[in-house]
Amino acid sequence: MHDLIKNGTLWTLKEVGTDSEQIRQNETLFSLSNGHIGTRGSLEERHRTQAYSHSDSTLMNGFYDTEPITYGEWAYGYATHHQTTIPVPDAKKLDLSLDDELFDLETGKVDHHSRTLDLKSGLLTRTFSWENSKQQSIDVTIERFVSYDFPEILAQRIIIESEKDDLPVQLLFELDELEDMGKKESAEDDPDPRKKEQAERRFDSRPLSTDSGRMIHISTHASDLHAVIYDHVVSRFEQVSLERIENKVTASFQTDRSAPVIIDRFTAYSHKYSNEEDTDSQAENLKEIMSEVETLGYDEVKMRHLLFMDEFWDKSDIELEGDQALQIGLRFNLFHLHQAAGRDGHTNMSAKGLTGEGYEGHYFWDTEMYMFPFFLYTQPKIAKSLLMYRHSILPQARERARTMAIDNGALFAWRTINGEEASPYYPAGTAQIHINADIAHAVYDYGKVSEDEAFMFNEGLDILVETARFWLEWGHFDDERDGAFVLNDVTGPDEYTAIVNNNFYTNLMAKKNLSYAIEYAQKAQEQAADKLEELHVTEDELEDWKKAESRLFLPYDEEKELTMQDDSFFHKKVWDFEHTPEENYPLLLNYHPLTIYKHQVCKQADTVLAEFLFFDDFEMEQLKRDYDYYEKVTTHDSSLSRSVFGMMASQIGKHEKAYDYFMDTVLMDISDLQSNTKDGVHAANMGGTWMSIVQGFAGMRFNDGTLYLTPHCPKEWGSLSFKVQVKDRLIQVMLTPSSTEYTLLEGEPIIIVENGEKIQL
Ligand code: BGC
Repeated sequence: MHDLIKNGTLWTLKEVGTDSEQIRQNETLFSLSNGHIGTRGSLEERHRTQAYSHSDSTLMNGFYDTEPITYGEWAYGYATHHQTTIPVPDAKKLDLSLDDELFDLETGKVDHHSRTLDLKSGLLTRTFSWENSKQQSIDVTIERFVSYDFPEILAQRIIIESEKDDLPVQLLFELDELEDMGKKESAEDDPDPRKKEQAERRFDSRPLSTDSGRMIHISTHASDLHAVIYDHVVSRFEQVSLERIENKVTASFQTDRSAPVIIDRFTAYSHKYSNEEDTDSQAENLKEIMSEVETLGYDEVKMRHLLFMDEFWDKSDIELEGDQALQIGLRFNLFHLHQAAGRDGHTNMSAKGLTGEGYEGHYFWDTEMYMFPFFLYTQPKIAKSLLMYRHSILPQARERARTMAIDNGALFAWRTINGEEASPYYPAGTAQIHINADIAHAVYDYGKVSEDEAFMFNEGLDILVETARFWLEWGHFDDERDGAFVLNDVTGPDEYTAIVNNNFYTNLMAKKNLSYAIEYAQKAQEQAADKLEELHVTEDELEDWKKAESRLFLPYDEEKELTMQDDSFFHKKVWDFEHTPEENYPLLLNYHPLTIYKHQVCKQADTVLAEFLFFDDFEMEQLKRDYDYYEKVTTHDSSLSRSVFGMMASQIGKHEKAYDYFMDTVLMDISDLQSNTKDGVHAANMGGTWMSIVQGFAGMRFNDGTLYLTPHCPKEWGSLSFKVQVKDRLIQVMLTPSSTEYTLLEGEPIIIVENGEKIQL
């Protein structure tokens, strides 16, 4: 069992000792965030070395800089600019001195050093005892949290105790805007395309005066984004003297053996804004927030945060009895999912959340297809704001469609922050136009589960119509295929197979996208005719969608009786797995893309994902055959793969396999399965573990207004219990290997269906 789990409880992960490799590794895992700001779980001391830290960044969701992409060889329509989430001034940093001697973990005499991440409360607590060279010693506790109640606030409390009176202690707080920020490994020559070096500071800063604290304005170099940061140190202890010198605050005091000395630090990060003239009002706003926070005091601000966390867990926890590692692993994943989601309708969820700079903070299809279901069924308000973000970038998506010579409709960017395409590699990037249907699918699911008609007949319809229009123009009716509607030159989810005709996943998703648009356009004829008019949806257009939908080509090999991943997949040679050494995985770091593309080899679930999503559309025997085939040629080099194979395994009765996949996915980041957790957590996989429990082991799906379940609780577990929200009901599901129990906790009576049998709740 992993040490973090062994030393912790069912709600905590605990690191014990001062091993630098361990501390460095846990920097990502111990990240705290609230969808707006995030800060990595780094040590506080400013002078710690690389040995203890991979990157100590603090990130703001959606705060990025741009820079032109340089291509060796340019072609029309290529993405023009990188968008990179950039580290902002880090307010964790702190120098601690005892009788003029600076604390240093490496050289100091340190005992009982531990750090605990409490998932229930979202608190990260560090404790240790330190004896300096004069044999004077103090006990130190540092607690930090990123508030949900005040989304701008990072709160820290430092507690110093000693058995001796009158030891002189000094704490020096600095907002490190004057230092180099970001990746410490900028010198490292790492070719991994999933990272991008962040060698230099990407913003300017200037002080804004305040009487009681330090306030700065930062602005990015090229993207012209602005933010205000306000750092404030307070102490109610009389013996503490606080002094502000330029950009630093020092707190000096003498120890008192009868009572600990407590110092609190609040740092407020405004939301990003794009007009520098708004700086004054942003600064005023932060002052108001800070004054409220200071009046309430640390304990009360923490209390409100804890209440918020309680509410989150009340709706979103999964209880799994019988396996401590899996229980904590699950909670860890849910905790990070919750931390990652933007909640303001202008930001989304990056593939790494706010826990690291991997993938430059970009938003991908990961959100809709892997993370969204968790929010949809447990935190629907957040689900809605994620969709509102997509709606907010529709203008950029329309523009992108025009660039791709599509006159109608919209094409969402494969990877983006500001809505514009930021993928510099089109074969395994921009060509993944399935993103359009993925977003439409999330919109449709949201409509089904929430019955939020106001959204569906406005923003929802905008998205469904614009994406449907895109498909109609991208594809064509192919006379060589009896007039079937085909989609050529696309890349499906599997990034080891690129630019193919009729990727099964893409075609099936496009078909669904068209059917969603048709359904809602027809409903709108009755309920929202004005909206239809505004969108200029005509009867003729509806007919075109229907024709394309009904003729959408889904590749199938009659002889092999297998679903084809695309037109060409079975014509390729199967990758020589037997002679591929272990160290050559992931293949993308060891083979030229074409070497990979010309083979039958999958990075991740593709056809199996399509079949899992629309499970009821297929015969069981077909699903089993396809699963067996594609599993053999899949490397799972993408972290998005295993959870899907696991869920499908549950559904087709391969329970042991389902269990094994689940074991890998649930502990992926804690055990660093992909060897790159240092760059941030794998948020999509975390969503995949929620889906594995609810849609895999419990077999839950929501079709035509009815909740269906086909539960199977693994024999290794005592019980499994979770809650879901559908149509204004809150339902608790409790499974054991031999029983099931459903309880309606809130809302009107409802009928659900378990293994074909109706149950009235
Ligand atoms: C996967 C993509 C995914 C991206 C971001 C890639 O490795 O192949 O499917 O969207 O990572 O998580």
